[in-house]
Amino acid sequence: MAGRPLKTLERVISKAGLGSRVEARTWMHAGRVTVNGRVVQNPDHWVDMERDRVALDGRPLKARSRVYVLLYKPTGYLTTYKDPEGRPTVYDLIEDVGTFVSPVGRLDMDTSGLLLLTNDNQFAERVTNPKSHVPKTYLVKASTRLSDEQLQQLGDGIELSDGPTRPAVVTRVRDSAKYTHFEITLTEGRNRQVRRMVEALGAVVLKLVRVRIGPLAIGRLPIGKWRLLTRAEAESLMPPPSRRAAAGSVSARASKT
Ligand code: URA
Repeated sequence: MAGRPLKTLERVISKAGLGSRVEARTWMHAGRVTVNGRVVQNPDHWVDMERDRVALDGRPLKARSRVYVLLYKPTGYLTTYKDPEGRPTVYDLIEDVGTFVSPVGRLDMDTSGLLLLTNDNQFAERVTNPKSHVPKTYLVKASTRLSDEQLQQLGDGIELSDGPTRPAVVTRVRDSAKYTHFEITLTEGRNRQVRRMVEALGAVVLKLVRVRIGPLAIGRLPIGKWRLLTRAEAESLMPPPSRRAAAGSVSARASKT
């Protein structure tokens, strides 16, 4: 058995891109899932990926292609699958993707901008892991005018409750009579990081838009719309070995805007 590709049934179903793990469990409990023709209701049942035939409603699971979605998230949408309070979520905006994808990191409800979603866990891990140093760039409108020293502080690192922030690239975009607009590029993604950094200066964030992740920008995508990444775009965020592995399987569907 050594080296055999064994996975739990729950994992196999959710990885097939048909639904979340919770949905996979529901289908199993409902008796809709078979392994080699026999109904299996135990989500922890081991499946041998080379030999076992898994089916949902009698239809064999197909090897799924990897899908990478770039969404221009508007404010007012949660980066979660379902909200107990029934508020809008990013899934309301990507119903027509056709494959279950999960957000790569998160944006606050009041933050707009570039959000990636994928069914490729390795890609998501790479983009979100602070060790990868993938830069994320935000446009910020602060509630006061910020001095050069304050912007410098943001760039040098701010002491937050969960430790000092890493050095960041900060550029003043423009000042109005009351506000400063600036751009900040972070290589870590802590909870509400930009908001907390600005609050540490005695101001608050009035508007926050993520405009870039690594080399990817929102470009001309209308707000609330999504498109698939091209193969080259997806590969641009992967380390070299994974780039090769992914090259054959990135979904080649036409972009949807
Ligand atoms: N920093 C924040 O404070 N909020 C976000 O949504 C993203 C980065």
